[in-house]
Amino acid sequence: MKMINIEGNHDLSGTIKISGAKNSSVAILPASILASTDVTICNIPEITDTDALCEILEYLGADVRRASESVVITPSTIENKFIPEKYSKKLRASYYFMGALLGKFKHVEISLPGGCSIGARPINLHLKGFESLGAKITMEEEKYIVHAEELKGANIYLDIASVGATINIMLAAVLAKGKTIIDNAAKEPEIVNVATFLNNMGAKITGAGTSQIRIMGVEELKGCFHEIIPDRIEAGTYTIIGALVGNNLKIYNIIPEHIEALTSKLQEMGADIEIGSDYLIINKKEEYLPTNIKTLVYPGFPTDLQQPFSVLLSRCNGISTIEETIFENRFMHLPELKKMGMKITKEKTKATFFGKCNLKGNEVVATDLRAGAALIVAALIAEGTTTIKNVEHILRGYEGIIEKLKDVGAKIELKEI
Ligand code: UD1
Repeated sequence: MKMINIEGNHDLSGTIKISGAKNSSVAILPASILASTDVTICNIPEITDTDALCEILEYLGADVRRASESVVITPSTIENKFIPEKYSKKLRASYYFMGALLGKFKHVEISLPGGCSIGARPINLHLKGFESLGAKITMEEEKYIVHAEELKGANIYLDIASVGATINIMLAAVLAKGKTIIDNAAKEPEIVNVATFLNNMGAKITGAGTSQIRIMGVEELKGCFHEIIPDRIEAGTYTIIGALVGNNLKIYNIIPEHIEALTSKLQEMGADIEIGSDYLIINKKEEYLPTNIKTLVYPGFPTDLQQPFSVLLSRCNGISTIEETIFENRFMHLPELKKMGMKITKEKTKATFFGKCNLKGNEVVATDLRAGAALIVAALIAEGTTTIKNVEHILRGYEGIIEKLKDVGAKIELKEI
């Protein structure tokens, strides 16, 4: 078990480099098995989620060579084996092996995926997509068996613009016969990054980034070189930290457009922020205007930033609200923030924050990845020392978070207990 100790109330200055996007990487690593020759992926973050996926690739027989920030995968040696729970439960994104193995071998056997407990998180839309392409799905003792004699392009309408379902259907459809159209597709930048990767391998996908994605099936995909986009959620998290304790804090290797929902909100609240071509510089303010946010699919306010952002509301003079519309259980950080002195009430999917209030260090528990990030943000502004337990969740998604924060002046330590 690991924990993090943070002594709060210190300004942070210097530069923080943003790593490759977790949510692109966790789809692109499984997608690499669709290629017949070697794939080189640059900017894969060193986080436990990508480690877990590389382990699954190796278990399936791929050769995975990892250097700093890049991974070379030889998928030609892959065998189509059952992926047991000890691999699939480690993370949500193990479900991308369903689409990738189905696309490649027309058959998959995999245990249920794991991941953060932020809601029911069903995968009915992924399965509906596979069925539309001609697959039959059976469930046996917590294991999915997905089989197709042949995959045929189809018109698929997603009832919810799900990121996971859009990507998984793309993975299954790129080698199918004929044309697939995904309507009400998710539009997140990670979808575009995955589609670009598949196209670099020879797929024919158009429309990624819009609500209609069109895929013309091809016979074969070949290896390629691909670069992962910067992580917009990591960038957003450090931007929020900058708004609270930044002293000319520069955050670079970002695509500013990808975090516009956050930066526009911050500007509306009175933040001191300068946005450049691939960086931003942010200074703290002691007080912000209260605000209301509602999480939405891209380009709306991202649900993944809602938790870290909530800490900023302690600096707003007045009442602010957050409405979570994507995941029904993404408020588990609130009781922990209350322990640290925030004044919050919650009713169903809406939380109300009463500011301003000062935070005090305490012992708190990270219940999921972004809840953990929120607690780090809170600890950085709290008086005294905060101990965060269950930080394995945080290490799943933020590359080098301890070193990055230390380098800009934070008093932060990772400890084994
Ligand atoms: C991905 C991201 C996660 C982010 C989320 C929303 C990855 C690995 N994770 O998660 O960080 O918070 O997008 O931007 O990329 N749903 C269904 N049926 C389905 C699929 C989804 O009802 O078959 C529901 C979910 O329960 C949720 C909503 O649709 O309420 C959106 O989920 P989805 O976009 O699929 O999120 P994930 O891909 O799990």
